[in-house]
Amino acid sequence: MEVVETVQEMQQICEAIRLAGETIALVPTMGFLHQGHLELMRVGRRHADKLIISIFVNPSQFGPGEDLDQYPRDREGDLEKARKVGVDLVFMPSAPEMYQEGYQTRVQLEKLPRHLCGLSRPGHFDGVATVVAKLFNITRPHIAVFGQKDYQQLTVISRMVMDLNMDIRIIGVPTIREPDGLAMSSRNSYLNPGERKSALSLKKSMDLALELFREGERRPGVIIDAVRSLISGHPFTEIDYVALCDPVTLDSVEVLGERNLLAMAVRVGKTRLIDNCLLQNGSDRDDHI
Ligand code: PAJ
Repeated sequence: MEVVETVQEMQQICEAIRLAGETIALVPTMGFLHQGHLELMRVGRRHADKLIISIFVNPSQFGPGEDLDQYPRDREGDLEKARKVGVDLVFMPSAPEMYQEGYQTRVQLEKLPRHLCGLSRPGHFDGVATVVAKLFNITRPHIAVFGQKDYQQLTVISRMVMDLNMDIRIIGVPTIREPDGLAMSSRNSYLNPGERKSALSLKKSMDLALELFREGERRPGVIIDAVRSLISGHPFTEIDYVALCDPVTLDSVEVLGERNLLAMAVRVGKTRLIDNCLLQNGSDRDDHI
């Protein structure tokens, strides 16, 4: 496994891979790797000849007052995990390497960022779209793998790829959870034991919503109220949003249809957690978009 730190070297290597007729899978990450990330890598591994991951804590997607400086890092641990899962190349640039002096270009989506997390994190999805577009240009992947845990991010990237005619297949992977149901996240490391318990309320509230939907409830307000009150019953929680929306446009819905996205962001102590699931007829699966 090779670790590459410059854009130029990465581009040369990827060009050589393509010239040799091999396919590339890319898994972009911000590091502090957990089983969720590793699952994305396993999926990437199965779909291409060469598996590239990027580890880059992207400053342009963090707002003022967010956790850019505290974001957890573990270079050696990450490299060990990547090696074990069969990664061929790790791209680990510095911030000045990615954003050279005079940098001034951003990829901006018009509508998708006006929903859900975009409302409390202005500029976040433009930062994500920009860095992912840059990573695509640097590594020129045939496929790229993202988690459904960050559902809005996955829709933003899928839309960007369509809109900008990028010849890349985007694969969405279902959320990987701890045995008790908490969605894995690098940010879970911020939680103290009491907060960790309360963080379970997100998954519990989604299970309740799935049950109500299965029993025939189709009024978004009723489901949202039930979710909100279950979460609020746990200490340290402060709800940012609970929304029921169209899984493609992310517009909120008046009446639930065949497929609906239930998405939420909740502050537990100082840590902002997100989770989501699909409420759809015929099953309680949350594993495809
Ligand atoms: P990061 O939070 O490190 O996540 C990297 C990838 O792992 C994303 O596609 C995310 O959706 C996926 N992921 C995280 N937790 C997961 C889980 N429990 N189950 C399945 N997949 C999970 O998301 C980012 O980094 C950044 O915004 C990035 C796309 C790298 C751009 O900077």
